[in-house]
Amino acid sequence: MTRTVLITGGTSGIGRAIAARFAADHAEVHITGRHADTVEQTAAELGVQGAVCDATDPGQVTELAARFSELDVLVNASGGLPQGTPGDGSALEAVLAQWQANLAQNLLGAVLTTTSVRDKLTSGGSVLSIGSIGAERGGGSYGAAKAALAAWNAALSAELGPLGITSNVISAGYIAGTNFFQGRLTDERQSALVAETHNKRPGTVEDIAETAYFLASPGARHITGQTLHVNGGAFTTR
Ligand SMILES: NC(=O)c1ccc[n+]([C@@H]2O[C@H](COP(=O)([O-])OP(=O)(O)OC[C@H]3O[C@@H](n4cnc5c(N)ncnc54)[C@H](OP(=O)(O)O)[C@@H]3O)[C@@H](O)[C@H]2O)c1
Repeated sequence: MTRTVLITGGTSGIGRAIAARFAADHAEVHITGRHADTVEQTAAELGVQGAVCDATDPGQVTELAARFSELDVLVNASGGLPQGTPGDGSALEAVLAQWQANLAQNLLGAVLTTTSVRDKLTSGGSVLSIGSIGAERGGGSYGAAKAALAAWNAALSAELGPLGITSNVISAGYIAGTNFFQGRLTDERQSALVAETHNKRPGTVEDIAETAYFLASPGARHITGQTLHVNGGAFTTR
């Protein structure tokens, strides 16, 4: 049976790779992003459906949800560092703007999208949200937002579990081949991020895509309410 898969933030980086992975499985894949040109281009390149939707805008998210009668897999991949928000300045207004922008991008987008399609998720389906090693590393407002994403996921899993739906966070370490760093990652910083790993390499978007594909597979039905760390050992758990 063909699965219907929605991936927010599917025009670039991790979301795009997840879309390609499910498309290779002949799923009916839908991707979103905030810009019509990249949505259109990526959808054409991958042979998937595209929709312009800002995951932080309730009106746009409601319109997106109306496209679906049933949804098997939702991947909340949109997120990242908000553009144009001031750094940790002295003015409280600037601090508030930065925290609100990070919470919107990295927590509320997933909450709104998931809530909007909640009643369309099928038994045997999966919700996946892309978290970050930043949640473990004192990553300021970004890390706090990703930590909150994982906390929210635990409650969501309890709510969806009785319906036969799993919900997990994939917490990514440094992943190369994305626009996450917006061209501002120095060679020194990149080397430091790789040095933190046990396997001495950056993560790839395919590392995350394969994890997402597995978590939405029949073999992963007893994995729910978890945060899975995919980071080459840069952060370990026990
Ligand atoms: N790259 C890393 O090292 C890394 C590490 C840990 C976690 N992550 C997380 O991985 C996820 C994917 O990021 P990425 O690294 O693949 O970065 P990316 O290449 O910048 O991709 C982000 C995607 O999300 C879309 N997007 C951003 N804000 C959106 C919004 N409000 N509504 C809808 N779409 C939105 C972007 O398109 P538009 O800008 O056109 O909307 C783009 O398609 C993010 O949640 C990020 O926090 C990344």
